[in-house]
Amino acid sequence: MKKVFVCTNHRKFSDQPSCAARGSESLLDFLKSEVSLRDLDVEVESSVCMGHCAKGPNIKISDGDFIHGANQDLVDELLLKIDAYGNRPTLT
Ligand code: FES
Repeated sequence: MKKVFVCTNHRKFSDQPSCAARGSESLLDFLKSEVSLRDLDVEVESSVCMGHCAKGPNIKISDGDFIHGANQDLVDELLLKIDAYGNRPTLT
């Protein structure tokens, strides 16, 4: 099973960029929902800060790759980058 971590960190001061301030909490819920709807073998979890705050929302894939600037509009692209489908066709 692939694991995907979505940074949901809020930074201490509102003028500091953070993934949560850019909508990562709703992205986390949306990704969980899409993975479930598409019956994908992917576990989506929240994460603490990944150190790339200015590039968020950030996702880390269990193989170590990062996806920066993630958002719900890119869900199909995100799932392909995550390799969520393995050998399955992407259409469900
Ligand atoms: S707040 Fe998400 S990487 Fe720092």
